[in-house]
Amino acid sequence: MTDPAVPAWHAVALAADIEPGTSAGARLHDRELVVWRDSGGESHVWEDRCPHRGMRLSFGFVRGNHIACLYHGWAYDTAGQCRAIPAHPDLAVPETIRVPTYASAEASGLIFVWSEMGATPPSPPAARPLTALRSLFVEAAPERVAALLAGRFAPGPDGSFAGRLVGADVVLFLQPFTADQTGLHVTIDGAGDGALVSRAAEALRHAIEAAAPSRFASLEFAA
Ligand code: FES
Repeated sequence: MTDPAVPAWHAVALAADIEPGTSAGARLHDRELVVWRDSGGESHVWEDRCPHRGMRLSFGFVRGNHIACLYHGWAYDTAGQCRAIPAHPDLAVPETIRVPTYASAEASGLIFVWSEMGATPPSPPAARPLTALRSLFVEAAPERVAALLAGRFAPGPDGSFAGRLVGADVVLFLQPFTADQTGLHVTIDGAGDGALVSRAAEALRHAIEAAAPSRFASLEFAA
């Protein structure tokens, strides 16, 4: 799951955090991504780089079913194809001007991306009746985070980790940012006190960042 050479679905955002008409930057395996949602409600995950001069598209503006670059306003449709260049309004935009895209899907209150650029995934991400709570940034390597979580939570086939946290059933989805940084998306399975789980998840983050593996299982962030 944390090996960049192995294509897989990864959660990159809470679905509710990307409202229609907005965009945000994300990172996966040290690649910068833009996650954006068109005004029709469909989400998209692309390389976060304008083909013109490399400006981050996550700084751009969503207009209907296009995202426009902040720098010179080149606008891209939902397939990543450039459709308008404001400085040359009469130009037939070459088909070669397009943004590399990733397959993405929404499930379990999260936005998932298939980690292999331009590829068609073999199946959609597993959908579960979860409540997406929050995302956390962890200053630790993805492999270390996965190993620590596996000592306390049950790893799932989709790279998630399920277990108990302050009396609630939770499922944690790991997002490998870089070699040293990891994202954790926290969801609740069933009933649970969101504020309490949220605080416990922060304690979990601090425990991962601070604890030696041998101490991790005995820390008091989980119940
Ligand atoms: S860098 Fe994006 S339009 Fe120029």
